[in-house]
Amino acid sequence: MADGGIVDVVDLGCGAGVLTMATHHHLLSRGLTPRTVGVDLKSDLLDRLNASAGRLAERDPGWEELRFDAGSIADWQPQSGSEPDVVIALHACDTATDDALAAAIDWESRVILAAPCCQHDLQAQLDRHAIPPGFESLMKHGIVRERLGDLLTDTVRADLLASRGYRTDVIEFVAGEHTAKNLMIRATAEGSPDLAAASRVDDLVSRWGVRPALLDRLGARPS
Ligand SMILES: C[S@@+](CC[C@H](N)C(=O)[O-])C[C@H]1O[C@@H](n2cnc3c(N)ncnc32)[C@H](O)[C@@H]1O
Repeated sequence: MADGGIVDVVDLGCGAGVLTMATHHHLLSRGLTPRTVGVDLKSDLLDRLNASAGRLAERDPGWEELRFDAGSIADWQPQSGSEPDVVIALHACDTATDDALAAAIDWESRVILAAPCCQHDLQAQLDRHAIPPGFESLMKHGIVRERLGDLLTDTVRADLLASRGYRTDVIEFVAGEHTAKNLMIRATAEGSPDLAAASRVDDLVSRWGVRPALLDRLGARPS
């Protein structure tokens, strides 16, 4: 957090901006000075959200620092000096979550909250590659295979964050009756690089013969 209680927040894959606005409101109500940006591919939607943000800014102080930028997560860059302290990605589709995590690591963001969604990338790779001996039964049922892809994807994501010095938890952020996609990767930049996590990633990707998108985003090696 910068001096004066300024908190730079970005919500990557913000969709209708509900969480973006709620986060901005929450930080304002805590007496902080949020500078919040929502990013999404849907430019028409974001035009409407910017109009709403403008109306809020006319009415209440603090809302002039909320805006929505149209574009892809991979291409979005903060203004120099406004690198996000907090990165949120709620159900950003498939590897868009990896784009968000890689960007957050690059910006050295202090808090990362990502709820992944539709992990198709590794699921497709699992279908193509040889399964490690002894694990064949995990591939027998479609739903189990799908969830295996989810779990491998998010395990690698969590360990890659840990390998980059983030204290990382994987939690359920809401009860399962609201959404089956209720897993959240929560990471705070308060650790030192976890070398064991890096070698766990090495081990997992070589055993399963997969190449998780986040590994590619971060470069060849996980440490
Ligand atoms: C399932 S919606 C979630 C929206 C919002 N975060 C929420 O939870 O209500 C996923 C959003 O991510 C956006 N998205 C997907 N890939 C993206 C990318 N590469 N760059 C920017 N936005 C992306 C989609 O346009 C969509 O609005």
